[in-house]
Amino acid sequence: MEVIRIPRIMREISKELRFKGKSIGFIPTMGALHEGHLSLIRRAKEENDIVIVSIFVNPTQFAQGEDYEKYPRDVELDKEKLEALAIDYLFLPDVNSLYPEGYSTYVVVEGLSDKLCGIFRPGHFRGVATIVCKLFNIVKPLRAYFGQKDYQQSLIIRRMVEDLNFDIEIIVCPTVREQDGLAMSSRNLYLNEKERQSATVIYKALKEGERLLNKGEKPLDVKLKMHEILKNEPLIREIQYAGVYDPLTLEEVKERQNKYLLAVALKIGDTRLIDNLIVE
Ligand code: PAF
Repeated sequence: MEVIRIPRIMREISKELRFKGKSIGFIPTMGALHEGHLSLIRRAKEENDIVIVSIFVNPTQFAQGEDYEKYPRDVELDKEKLEALAIDYLFLPDVNSLYPEGYSTYVVVEGLSDKLCGIFRPGHFRGVATIVCKLFNIVKPLRAYFGQKDYQQSLIIRRMVEDLNFDIEIIVCPTVREQDGLAMSSRNLYLNEKERQSATVIYKALKEGERLLNKGEKPLDVKLKMHEILKNEPLIREIQYAGVYDPLTLEEVKERQNKYLLAVALKIGDTRLIDNLIVE
């Protein structure tokens, strides 16, 4: 595995690889790699000649007061995990090389970015769309891999790719879960033992929502039941949203339809956790 830190060099390598006809599979990450990331990498390895992973904790997607400073960073451990998977390149830029003095261009995917997480994290998806757009231009992948846990993010990136005519296939892979159902996330590292235990309620609420929808219950009743389950967990400090949404528009669904997104965002202590399920 070769580690590349300078965007210009990464761009030249990718250009050369594409010129030689190699397919590049790309997994953008913020590090603190867990099994969820590794599953994306394995899939990319199966489908591409070359696999590039980036690690960059992107400041523009964190609002003031969020966890940018304390976001878990352990590049040495991440490198070991990537070496073990024998990826080809790790792109590891620093903040100044991607956002130099005078940087002033941002990508905004209107509409979708203002729903669900966008309400509670203003500017977050502007930062995500901007960095992903930049990384796509540098790495020039044929395919890019994202996890379904960040469902809204993947929807926004698909929209951006379509609207800005990127020639990149976006592949969204299933959420990887712990044995008790908790979705893997770098932020799970923030949870103490009791909080970690209480976090399992998120998957329980989603699964109950799925069961009720499959039984034919109305989306609004399903939402109420999910809230009831979550409210019974004393360590949950704030339920930001929990309910039944349209998987394409992210609007709340009130009547029965063919496909639903069940989604939850909440805070346990200071830790914000999200998860979702698609129900057909
Ligand atoms: O999902 C993430 O880890 C980040 O939002 C991403 C896509 C790497 C952009 O910084």
